[in-house]
Amino acid sequence: MTVTTKANTPANRAAELRARIEEANHRYHVLDDAQIPDADYDKLMRELEAIEAAHPELAAADSPTLRVGASPSREFAEVRHALRMLSLANAFSDEEIVDFVRRIEEHLDIADPVFSVEPKFDGLAISLRYENGVFVQGATRGDGETGEDVTVNLRTIKAIPLRLRGDDWPAVLEVRGEVYMPRADFERYNAHAREHGGKVLANPRNGAAGSLRQLDSSITASRPLAFFAYAPGAVENGSLPNAHSALMRKFRDWGFPVSQLVETARGAQGCLDYYRRIGEARDSLPFDIDGVVYKLDDLAGQRELGFVGRTPRWAIAHKFPAQEQQTKVEAIIINIGRTGAATPAAVLEPVHVGGVTVTNATLHNADQVARLDVRVGDTVIVRRAGDVIPEVVRVVPALRPDGTQAWAMPTHCPICGSEIVREDGEVVARCSGELICPAQRVQSIFHFAGRRAMDIEGLGERVIEDLVALGFVKSPADLYALTVADFAEMRRRADERDGTTPETVKAGKVATRWAENLIESIDHSRATTLERFLYALGIEHVGESTAKALAAWFGRLQLIRHLPWPLLKLVPDIGGEVARSIDHFFTQEGNQSAIDELLMRGVNLKDEHDVSPKLRQSLGSDCLLASFEIPKLTGKRATQLAAAFEDLERVAHVPEHQLVTAGLPADTAAALVRWRDEGGHAELFARSLRSWNTLRELAGSAGEAGQSLPLDGQTAVLTGTLKSMTRDEAKDRLERLGAKVAGSVSKKTSFVVAGEEAGSKLGKAQELGVEIWDETRLLAFLAGQGGS
Ligand code: IVH
Repeated sequence: MTVTTKANTPANRAAELRARIEEANHRYHVLDDAQIPDADYDKLMRELEAIEAAHPELAAADSPTLRVGASPSREFAEVRHALRMLSLANAFSDEEIVDFVRRIEEHLDIADPVFSVEPKFDGLAISLRYENGVFVQGATRGDGETGEDVTVNLRTIKAIPLRLRGDDWPAVLEVRGEVYMPRADFERYNAHAREHGGKVLANPRNGAAGSLRQLDSSITASRPLAFFAYAPGAVENGSLPNAHSALMRKFRDWGFPVSQLVETARGAQGCLDYYRRIGEARDSLPFDIDGVVYKLDDLAGQRELGFVGRTPRWAIAHKFPAQEQQTKVEAIIINIGRTGAATPAAVLEPVHVGGVTVTNATLHNADQVARLDVRVGDTVIVRRAGDVIPEVVRVVPALRPDGTQAWAMPTHCPICGSEIVREDGEVVARCSGELICPAQRVQSIFHFAGRRAMDIEGLGERVIEDLVALGFVKSPADLYALTVADFAEMRRRADERDGTTPETVKAGKVATRWAENLIESIDHSRATTLERFLYALGIEHVGESTAKALAAWFGRLQLIRHLPWPLLKLVPDIGGEVARSIDHFFTQEGNQSAIDELLMRGVNLKDEHDVSPKLRQSLGSDCLLASFEIPKLTGKRATQLAAAFEDLERVAHVPEHQLVTAGLPADTAAALVRWRDEGGHAELFARSLRSWNTLRELAGSAGEAGQSLPLDGQTAVLTGTLKSMTRDEAKDRLERLGAKVAGSVSKKTSFVVAGEEAGSKLGKAQELGVEIWDETRLLAFLAGQGGS
């Protein structure tokens, strides 16, 4: 950061804050390379808000404070597009693409032209207008001629620059692109909505469109929207490059997100190769696409070709097969998960959707079944997007046969017969059998043994079902006491039960080998990482990323297993609900003894470490006070309270009037005392204070040791196949050495690890001059770091 020595006026300070905040937004939302901690970002925002509140004359159209949304409007104004927003012709077959290219070749009298090849994003098209580099208006496509003014809503999308970077942009510039909702955010949003009875979004595209068309922009601000730029609109007083690919690079320079998947390709063959490649990657992309787009790269050629009706002759959309299909519901069953959640699912007449055969689709929960009114015998639309579980989207009412009945959640668990209960206000119904329910046991052990958890190879659901049903295993720890003889005995009893043929000598040998292999994998799984272990425990709401954050911040199981929830909340990304769920899990004696048993049976965490030095920043007494969620105690009040009572112990006892004397408003003080002295919070407060003191000691000493990792601050990208380890393993090991592992190559990438058959990422790295490591170099580096 260069130090400016401008006069210290509010106007200068506001300008400086805006620049710093927008720089942080750009890094985080466009470059995927966050650089300042959330807390610092919030601080800058608060300071700017304060200045703008005190000096209304400093308001500006490009102020990041506008990103939080404004008061609701009654309707959207109309916007006439300065340049029509076009649509694309669709193609579904290779032949249509060959024809499309041939027409261009004939028209321009050229051979094998270069195309910009791009994903066809499945979101909502918008146009952004910048005047003198400042975002002034944004509109939906509407009918192509006239759209709706959604400027206020678009400002809340942090990937959209409020002010252009650089200085070589035209005085008036319109940029077109797609607003979309990343899949993971969509899933998270819906999971939350389902849990809390909120509005469930049908798919990410509807999510994006619905969010953008909110009259209350604070709702838009709360939705996880993103943006990709892909075309120019009107341009005045300035010129653009003469190739589309060069324009995309300019867009990036000016601060717009442009997908890393945008490439150039030559001729029809190049386009079709791209189509195949993207088709294969489709399911693993972080956002939905419904095809690819080919655009003639040469803009002069584009002008010459012109349009037919509303579609250009120089571009075409090549669509993927539909991800929605129609089929029949044969039955509605319920599955019991590891926490007892009873999830209804439709058993379907097999149907081909987006390249795979689907026989089952989730119905999520009883409310969803009621909302959709799905019945056995109905014809339904199933949708499969990415690697998410297929789901029933809607019923086709016209095709409902006579005599169907509305579905209802069964009253008893189909596995253990215990009652299925749904607590008031809960969306999820659960089997109340807990430990007596074999389904719950099987699911929790299956999760425990999973590839991303303890990774016990060969221990599949079927084997676990038999182990549980025949009484060999009740809990994960029991796995570590099994012997080859146990497996042989289990096999024998299972055969007896199923009436399968008795063993021949040869079959006996195969069975022994199988048992020995399983014992070996179980044994092998004993040495694991803290992160995997935490994930394996199956704590509700603790997925891999939460497990990873817990491991990274606190370092040791002994610490984590005793932390009260307000301290767990100090980790960024862990909210109140998740923290309470972790705390609840560890306060169950049964869970603590299950953990002890696992450790006793030889499970060991080879990567435990001291608390992260980063933790120190979150250990201020104001942070702790704020994390209790005390009614009326805002961040500001928590800071005030922390300043007034250096010894937090006192906050546990002080009478209300002293809080008021210390400067708290009367209602805040009253709320605090009520919270503290009622509902068991005194104990929580005391317990938290003890842990907090421990953490502060630990963080203090960790800080002195100055733990820095060899790859701190570096970003790596993996591509191709490695011979000596899986990509996940490589990722894991690089991360443990401090690297961040990203999914795509950019200028910010420190190095690319390229295995065999490396794909476009390698090309991209070469193009950008990013350092490239082959497998030998990676292994040598890892060995040098003491990781074998
Ligand atoms: S270019 C004249 N590029 O597809 C070209 N469109 O039918 C104008 N879309 O409404 C569009 N990804 O919402 C273009 N990479 C891409 C796109 C894309 C998605 C959508 C866009 C537009 C529709 C065209």
